[in-house]
Amino acid sequence: MTQADHTPEDFMTAEQARVLAPHAPSVNPTGAKPILQVENLRKYFPVKSSGLIRRTIGQVQAVDGVSFEVPAGGSLGLVGESGCGKSTTGRLITRLYEPTGGAIRFGDQDIAQTSARGLKPLRREIQMIFQDPYTSLNPRHTVGSIVGAPLQIHDIVPKDKVLPRVQELLEIVGLNPEHYNRYPHEFSGGQRQRIGIARALTLQPKLLVADEPVSALDVSIQAQVINLLQDLQKEFGIAFLFIAHDLAIVRHFCPEVAVMYLGKIVEIADRETLYNRPHHPYTQALLSAVPDVKQAAIGGRRERIRLTGDVPSPINPPSGCRFRTRCPLAQEICAKVEPPMLQVGPRHKVACHFAGEIGKHPEQPVTAKLLGVDDYGTAEPGATPSEIEQGPGFTDTWFDVNTRTVRHATPDQRS
Ligand SMILES: Nc1ncnc2c1ncn2[C@@H]1O[C@H](COP(=O)(O)OP(=O)(O)O)[C@@H](O)[C@H]1O
Ligand code: SF4
Ligand SMILES: [Mg+2]
Repeated sequence: MTQADHTPEDFMTAEQARVLAPHAPSVNPTGAKPILQVENLRKYFPVKSSGLIRRTIGQVQAVDGVSFEVPAGGSLGLVGESGCGKSTTGRLITRLYEPTGGAIRFGDQDIAQTSARGLKPLRREIQMIFQDPYTSLNPRHTVGSIVGAPLQIHDIVPKDKVLPRVQELLEIVGLNPEHYNRYPHEFSGGQRQRIGIARALTLQPKLLVADEPVSALDVSIQAQVINLLQDLQKEFGIAFLFIAHDLAIVRHFCPEVAVMYLGKIVEIADRETLYNRPHHPYTQALLSAVPDVKQAAIGGRRERIRLTGDVPSPINPPSGCRFRTRCPLAQEICAKVEPPMLQVGPRHKVACHFAGEIGKHPEQPVTAKLLGVDDYGTAEPGATPSEIEQGPGFTDTWFDVNTRTVRHATPDQRS
């Protein structure tokens, strides 16, 4: 660790540090194969005209070509401002939404186009935890019927075994097993989220998509629920796609993190790299906005990178790099050519023509030669663009942006 490196507590509030820090940050199982691989996933929502004949007049490009993978039993975090496409991504993976394009490989199966009938077995293996524990539970059903419903729908256990299983699940999530006959309104927010978690666990899933699972809870309760999710992950080997906007919590829960902006992933890396050496100006701005408890204690604060302008509409996103209208580094090439997702380290990818550590961004685009364009983004006559691997995972070779050479993984860096 260099002197400039942050400790996990740097990004936490004092209350988060008190409750979360005693629990070690999650690690991914070594050598785990991916359980989920998402490749070039897209979801466009049609925009209709008003009036009697409603024609499609545009598309909301909510998710536009995202690729990532989640290791079996491990976690990937997904962060980004509101509206950048996180929930849509989660809902595509659980197939609550039909993808417009791309692949979703779960185990050996591509589930992107599977029919509703074919999805039934998958519904057992991939479950979702929702943000709002107040609206995600049916107020007219008892906890017992909410948690037990999946068992009956999937016809998994005989009727007389449902209640004991429900009670076991309530106990696992830290609720009183005798409270199965109560209604959601009789529980606090944190307890309701535990009910939602018990329901998600009922069918023993392999992957949980947790969409802002603690955002609606008080900070101290948030940490308890995170501790519970960590324990469950360890005990049952569940993989998580963990969607959140709290960067401290994501750092604690997720060994790898992807950053989204306007429907695309702009940077993805292991937690140490992402939090200490982010290479994308957007990641750098996001991190600079997090309150710095340690600095504040000595009367200082982290230098804040202010983003100007509003997030553009996903109906008509900017050409080239979608971040260019707010990027302090944008140049001509950024408007003309979309930056490819370039692997720049053993477990680090970034989509920026001027990728580099904060304060060390290059003057000339690192991508130009690879793309066969000049520094202004105009195609070079006779140039052959390099093949840039755009798959979901990492490879054993990458492009070092400092030396502009291809590097190969050492044996201990191999993925
Ligand atoms: N069902 C829908 N119909 C039309 N647009 C949608 C729908 N769901 C989400 N969107 C739009 O897609 C974009 C991404 O939304 P969402 O995935 O909810 O973002 P996040 O979870 O990151 O806040 C937003 O612009 C949102 O308005
Ligand atoms: S490609 Fe250009 S506009 Fe986009 S993040 Fe990099 S410097 Fe900014
Ligand atoms: Mg959301």
